[in-house]
Amino acid sequence: MSEIVSREIQLTTRPNGLPETSDFTLIENTLNPTASDIVVKNLYMSVDPAMRPALSNGQTKLDETMQGGAIGKVIASASTEFPEGSYVIHRAGFREYYLSDGSDLNLITLEDESITTHLHILGGTGLTAYGGLLVTGQLAEGENVFVSAAAGAVGSVVCQIAKIKGCRVAASCGSDEKVAYLKNELGVDHAFNYKTSSISRELHAGLPDGIDVYFENVGGAHLDAACGQMRPLGRIPVCGMISAYNNKGARSEGVTTLSNLIYNRVTMKGFVVYEFNHMREQFLTDMRSWMKQGKMKYEETIMDGIENAPAALIGLLQGQNTGKMLVKLADDD
Ligand SMILES: NC(=O)c1ccc[n+]([C@@H]2O[C@H](COP(=O)([O-])OP(=O)(O)OC[C@H]3O[C@@H](n4cnc5c(N)ncnc54)[C@H](OP(=O)(O)O)[C@@H]3O)[C@@H](O)[C@H]2O)c1
Repeated sequence: MSEIVSREIQLTTRPNGLPETSDFTLIENTLNPTASDIVVKNLYMSVDPAMRPALSNGQTKLDETMQGGAIGKVIASASTEFPEGSYVIHRAGFREYYLSDGSDLNLITLEDESITTHLHILGGTGLTAYGGLLVTGQLAEGENVFVSAAAGAVGSVVCQIAKIKGCRVAASCGSDEKVAYLKNELGVDHAFNYKTSSISRELHAGLPDGIDVYFENVGGAHLDAACGQMRPLGRIPVCGMISAYNNKGARSEGVTTLSNLIYNRVTMKGFVVYEFNHMREQFLTDMRSWMKQGKMKYEETIMDGIENAPAALIGLLQGQNTGKMLVKLADDD
């Protein structure tokens, strides 16, 4: 195959606070595939909150093409495992083309679903919600559940699994449009805009008997309000703390209500999605079945073109997305 020009995104300045598009540079990389290379044309890539701390703590290297989840199509290959025309998922996002020896690719087997679902509801964010709620959160039927960042990729799946399990769900988000989405589309019992209301007062109104499970995505004021209203033997699966990610050292605002964890014997436990890799088959079976029954819906916010990948990441941190924030890199032709 002749040479390919791949446009790619690199970090050139470490951001202080909310990143700016000028912290990133679009470069052109010339690739020269050999006969043994699997040539992948990336179709969609993911931007994720965890990318923000990585910009400051050194995990993301300066002047190197950034990493992140992506789905691509194999356009040239001598591999029987990844033949031409197959779809693959991998970590080499933030670029248009990728050459692989196959060791870092996973084949996607599509059923009825759209391919993009494998970057969210049937992929990592879906598994995060599933494992975090059912395993770390030890959710039981009919409990009272509070979900923060509830209209986002992880949060929207958590809300729906909790409803499927017969729970009463209170959910917070950052706009009135998202409140309407949570109530009208996802069937959440009590949704509120944390930017214009008191989190504590809304939780009293929505879950007057208290919270059995708080699915923590945000930290700071959300955790402060939730800790004070946990029921005996409640659980707080700590998934993320996005309110802190733009701060130096990803430090969150202070929480003053932790003593309630003692009196009510509440468990607070962090988790990372890879803990649930062994459950992937059961997860896919459950999610596909719920999707077919109309009990599991999703939204996508899609920006177009590799040049807009930094804006998509910055937009995610500002709440511009409902459901999963994605970047479309190419047509599937
Ligand atoms: N533990 C794991 O393995 C794992 C894996 C994936 C994700 N996570 C975590 O899960 C959480 C959600 O991730 P996601 O991928 O589903 O992203 P997401 O919820 O789709 O997008 C992030 C959302 O966070 C909200 N947000 C931003 N700044 C905020 C602030 N200061 N206060 C409150 N809300 C804020 C915004 O919505 P609003 O409009 O509602 O503000 C935004 O849409 C993140 O904390 C992430 O780090 C953890």
